Formats: sequence, C-alpha cells, structure tokens
Amino acid sequence: MGKASRDKRDIYYRKAKEEGWRARSAFKLLQIDEEFNIFEGVNRAVDLCAAPGSWSQVLSRKLYLPAKMSSEPKDDNLPLIVAIDLQPMAPIEGVIQVQGDITNARTAEVVIRHFDGCKADLVVCDGAPDVTGLHDMDEFVQSQLILAGLTIVTHVLREGGKFIAKIFRGKDTSLLYCQLKLFFSVVTFAKPKSSRNSSIVCENYSPPEGFNQKDLHRLLEKVGSPSGQEDLDCSSGWLEGPNKVYIPFLACGDLSGYDSDRSYPLSGTYQSLDPVQPPIAPPYKRALEMKKASSHGIRESEKLSLEG
Ligand SMILES: C[S@@+](CC[C@H](N)C(=O)[O-])C[C@H]1O[C@@H](n2cnc3c(N)ncnc32)[C@H](O)[C@@H]1O
Repeated sequence: MGKASRDKRDIYYRKAKEEGWRARSAFKLLQIDEEFNIFEGVNRAVDLCAAPGSWSQVLSRKLYLPAKMSSEPKDDNLPLIVAIDLQPMAPIEGVIQVQGDITNARTAEVVIRHFDGCKADLVVCDGAPDVTGLHDMDEFVQSQLILAGLTIVTHVLREGGKFIAKIFRGKDTSLLYCQLKLFFSVVTFAKPKSSRNSSIVCENYSPPEGFNQKDLHRLLEKVGSPSGQEDLDCSSGWLEGPNKVYIPFLACGDLSGYDSDRSYPLSGTYQSLDPVQPPIAPPYKRALEMKKASSHGIRESEKLSLEG
C-alpha cells in the first residue's frame, strides 16, 4: 500500500505522524485515559512490549516531561518509567529501556531491580505476537502475554494500582476476565475508537489475602476448573444462560471523533510524512535484507548478461 493511500485509509496512522507519535497505538492509550483517567497519581510506570515506543512516548509526555518542566524539578522525584520489548527501541526522554522477553523470569527481575524496592502505580502491556492468521492460536499466544504481564504485575504493582493490556476478544475472554477479577476489584473491557482491538482496564490491584506470587499459576488454573473459585461465580468462562459471566464493556474516545474503520479524503495541500521513528530492528529486517540482496543479485546478473 502506498503512503498516500495508507494515510487516506488510516486516519490514525496519518495523525500519529503529524503529532510525532511513533505508532498509531498512542491514540489508544490516550483514549483509554479519557475514560479511565489512568495517569492520575502515577509516578512509576512499566510499559511491557513497548517497541517502537508510542505508549512510552505517551507515558513520557504525560508523566515525565510535565514533572521535569515544573518549576523546581528534583531528579530523585521525577517519574520512573521502565519499558521492555524483545526488540531494541530508539531512546525516549525519561524512559529506561530493557530489551527482553516478558515471559522470561529474568526480565521480570530486571524490571523489579529498577524499582529498587518501590512499586509501580501503573503497568501497561500492548504485547502482540506475530499474528499467524489462525485465530485460536493467535488468541492463545496473546493470552499468554497477558498472563506474563500479570506475573510481572504481581511483583511490581502497588495495591490500588492499575493494569492495562491489549486483548483479542474470543471464546476464552470470560475466563480471562474471571482470572483478572481475582486480582483487581474493577475489570472493564474497553474499545478505543482508534483501535480495532479491545483492551482490558484493570483497576484497584488487590490480590487475595495471603497471596504468594509462586501460587499465581495454580490460582489461575483453579479459576479455569469447574471446582474452582466458587465465590467468584466465574469458574465457568464457558457456561451459558444464567451462569454466563457478563463483562463490563466501555467504548472509549469521542464517539463523533475519527473512526479507525473509515477512509478520509486528503486535502489538496496534503503532504505525506515519513514515520516518526521506524523500528530499529524489526522481526522482518532479515527478510528485507534478503529481498534487497536478491534484487541486487538479479540486477548484477542482468548487467553481466548485457556485458557478455
Ligand atoms: C503492537 S507492538 C507494541 C506497540 C507499542 N505499544 C507502541 O505503542 O509503540 C507489540 C510488541 O510486542 C512485542 N512482544 C511480543 N512478544 C513479546 C515478548 N514475549 N516479550 C517482550 N515483547 C514482546 C513485540 O516485539 C512488539 O514490539
């Protein structure tokens, strides 16, 4: 797809470049904030699966930069933002970057170390696997990323803190809702206008009494088994009729605002902009190099055959 046609078809892609965001997903977090006020009182935040970095930019612009600009900035009081991704990311002011896999315990340890005994007020996770097109598979891998995020949450989030994560809505959504309800008193599925996917907004982190992080997976499995947490009435994400779990749902963003599924005409003075910060080492980098090398090879052999 050409740049102009993508600009026309994807208004948030175009707006992201105009407003200096590295990815259109920045609007998703901003629209979630419009509804849920997620940045209020936040001084320490973790951005899981952060590359290329538009959510980290939002965290920097909403938390770090205003604090730095305030009249008497004190370095030791500035907001702490830690961002993690498998991919390297170009620097963002006020954001500490960790390159690692969030499903790996060692990555969680690195994050915890950055907090130096303090806890985070907010954890966000926009993780997405490389989509295979097999919906069940994609949904499963996505849910594993959320559970990895929840593992980190149980180590770094303070009581009362918030967790926001991207989800692919599917048949196991109710189960996930029930699992998250074990740890947060309010869990809402939110659909930002700028995004085709939904997110879960989990508020007021309050783990079960006596909770030990080592028990997390046993506890989550219990929710999924028929003899599990009876008092939650959630042991059965698959039940229908009167036992069906109803999940709170909220559309976010100005309803009269831009629609991510619509095309918008480009004005006569329109000029397509380059992306703000292309990924440094995207997973498709090698494929691009191979493609370039092979087209170079073809050109060289054409040259030789002309010369020959
Ligand atoms: C949709 S992008 C995130 C976009 C980002 N929130 C932004 O606003 O720029 C999904 C990211 O998840 C990362 N990811 C996927 N699996 C991961 C894992 N196991 N550990 C860390 N990052 C992961 C990918 O590398 C990718 O950069």
